Amino acid sequence: MEYLCLKSRNSHVIEMSTTLILLGLLVLSLQVAECRSKQPLGNLEFLALNCRKHSAVLTDFGGVGDGKTSNTKAFRSAIDKLSKLASDGGAALVVPPGKWLTGSFNLTSHFTLYIHKDAVLLGSQVESEWPRLPVLPSYGRGRDAAGGRLSSLIFGTNLTDVVVTGANGTIDGQGAYWWGKFKKNQLDVTRPYLIEIMYSNQVQISNLTFVNSPSWNVHPIYSSNVIIQGLTILAPVDSPNTDGIDPDSCTDIRIEDCYIVSGDDCIAVKSGWDQYGIKVGMPTQRLVIRRVTCISPDSATIALGSEMSGGIRDVRAEDITAIDTQSGVRIKTGVGRGGYVKDIYVRRMTMKTMKYVFWMTGSYGQHPDPGFDPKALPDIHGINYRDMVAENVTYSARLDGIPNDPFKGICIFNVTITLTKKPKELQWNCTDVQGVTSRVTPPACSLLPEKKPVDCPFPADRLPVEDLKLKRCFIVSSVPF
Ligand SMILES: *[C@@H]1O[C@H](CO)[C@@H](O)[C@H](O)[C@H]1NC(C)=O
Ligand SMILES: *[C@@H]1O[C@H](CO)[C@@H](O)[C@H](O)[C@H]1NC(C)=O
Ligand SMILES: *[C@@H]1O[C@H](CO)[C@@H](O)[C@H](O)[C@H]1NC(C)=O
Ligand SMILES: *[C@@H]1O[C@H](CO)[C@@H](O)[C@H](O)[C@H]1NC(C)=O
Ligand SMILES: *[C@@H]1O[C@H](CO)[C@@H](O)[C@H](O)[C@H]1NC(C)=O
Ligand SMILES: *[C@@H]1O[C@H](CO)[C@@H](O)[C@H](O)[C@H]1NC(C)=O
Ligand SMILES: *[C@@H]1O[C@H](CO)[C@@H](O)[C@H](O)[C@H]1NC(C)=O
Repeated sequence: MEYLCLKSRNSHVIEMSTTLILLGLLVLSLQVAECRSKQPLGNLEFLALNCRKHSAVLTDFGGVGDGKTSNTKAFRSAIDKLSKLASDGGAALVVPPGKWLTGSFNLTSHFTLYIHKDAVLLGSQVESEWPRLPVLPSYGRGRDAAGGRLSSLIFGTNLTDVVVTGANGTIDGQGAYWWGKFKKNQLDVTRPYLIEIMYSNQVQISNLTFVNSPSWNVHPIYSSNVIIQGLTILAPVDSPNTDGIDPDSCTDIRIEDCYIVSGDDCIAVKSGWDQYGIKVGMPTQRLVIRRVTCISPDSATIALGSEMSGGIRDVRAEDITAIDTQSGVRIKTGVGRGGYVKDIYVRRMTMKTMKYVFWMTGSYGQHPDPGFDPKALPDIHGINYRDMVAENVTYSARLDGIPNDPFKGICIFNVTITLTKKPKELQWNCTDVQGVTSRVTPPACSLLPEKKPVDCPFPADRLPVEDLKLKRCFIVSSVPF
C-alpha cells in the first residue's frame, strides 16, 4: 500500500480496483472523503482480465512528460518496484497526460500498464536505450539482419496476467528513423516492435492507438489466452514491414474491433520460419478475428504465413472490412516451410478496391539460410470462405499451389465480385489447387468446379477464448486526469 495518497505525499493515485461495483463505490466514497482536503479527484474506469489492488503514477518515479526527457529509467524502476506487489493483488502503473519519451522496458506479471487518453509514449531514437535480445528460436535469425534483435518498446516474457490498456492513449514509435536505416541497409540488428509478449499466459492489449512503429506493431509469441481489442494502428502505407498484429505460435487468441492502416499485412498469422519453426513446432491455433477494418494497398488484410512452419490451424475470421487493399485473406508458403495451414474459416468480408480477392502463393521465397529442407512441403487443406462481397476488383483470384503438393479442400460459397472498369481477362488463375465453389461470380476456374448444393462450413461452437470475460476496474486519483 506504499503508493496510496493517504500514506505517501508524492503519490497521485490513491485507490485500488475491485471487481465488485458495489464494493468499489463504497471504497471510492471513503477515499473521496479522505482525499478531498488535498485535491480534486480524477478516476479511470476500464475493462480488464483482472483488476489490481495497488496503483501508482509514472511521475512518482521521476517521469517527466515534456517529450524530451528520457523516461526509460522511470519506467524500468516503476515496474521493478511494482513487480514486488504481484503476489499482493498486483499493481497498475498509470502514464498520465503528457509526452513520455522512452526506450524499451519490460512488463511484469499481475500488472496493468494504463496509458491515459492524453498520454503519448514516444519511442526513443537512442539505440543504447534498446537492449539486444537473442534471435527467436522458431526463426533462427533476425528478420532484418542475421544478428540479434532489439527488444520491443514494451516487452514482456514468461508472464502471467498482464494488461496494457487505456482510453485510446497513444504509443508512437517514431519509426521514420528506423525505416530510413532499413531502406539504406544500415541495420546489423532487427528493428524493434512496439509490443512483444513472449511465453506468457493471460495477456490483454486494448483501447490504444499505435502509430509509426519501427517495424511490426503487436507481436504475441509462444503465448496463450491473448485478447487484443479496440486498437487503432496507423502507419504510412509505404512504410517497411509495419504489420499490424502478428499472432505467432499462440494458442487461444482473440483479435477484435481493430482499425489498421499499414505498409504491410494488417494481420499476419505466423508460426516460425523453415527448419527453425519446424523444430520448435508450436502452431498458432484457436484464433478468432472479428470486426477488423484494414487499409493496406500493397499487402493482405489477413495473411496466413509466410512463416507458418509450426502450423496454423483453426482460424475463424468474420465481419472483416478491407478498403484499397491488395488482397483479402492470403496464404503465403513455399517449399522448405513444412508445417500446415488447415481448418481456416472466413465469413462476411466486405471489400472495396482490391487487386485480388483470393490469393494463395505456394512459391513464397525468403529462407532464413541455405539450411532449409527442400523436402519440407507445407500441407494446405480445409480452407473455407463464404458470404463475401467485393467491389472494384482487378483479379478475382490467383491461386498457386505447389506442384506435386496441391492445396486441397478449398471451399468458396456465396461470393459476389464486381470488377473494375478495365478488368483482366483471366479472372480466376488457378494452378495446383483442388476444391469446390457455389454461387460465386464471376464463376471460378475449372479446378474449383461449381457443386450444388455446397455450404462451406463455419464452426458453430465457441472457443474458450471467446468466453474470457473482462472485469470492470477502477483507479481513483487525487488529481484530475
Ligand atoms: C474500449 O472502449 C470501448 C468504447 O470506447 C468500450 O466499449 C470497450 O469496452 C473498451 N474495451 C476495453 C477492453 O476496455
Ligand atoms: C527484459 O527482459 C529480457 C529477457 O529477460 C532481458 O534480456 C532484458 O535485458 C530486459 N530488459 C530490461 C530493460 O531490463
Ligand atoms: C521462459 O519460458 C520458456 C518456455 O517455457 C523457458 O524455456 C525459459 O527458460 C523461460 N525463461 C525464463 C527467464 O524464465
Ligand atoms: C482513437 O484515436 C485514433 C487516432 O486519433 C482515432 O482515429 C480513433 O477514432 C480513436 N478511437 C476511438 C474509439 O475513439
Ligand atoms: C477502383 O479501383 C481503381 C484501381 O484499380 C482505382 O484507381 C479507383 O479509384 C477505384 N474506384 C473507386 C470508385 O473506388
Ligand atoms: C450471402 O452473403 C451475403 C453477404 O454476406 C449475405 O447477406 C447472404 O445472407 C448470404 N446468403 C446465403 C444464402 O447465405
Ligand atoms: C497466372 O498465374 C501464373 C502463376 O501461377 C502466372 O505466371 C501467370 O502470368 C498468370 N496468368 C495471367 C494471365 O495472369
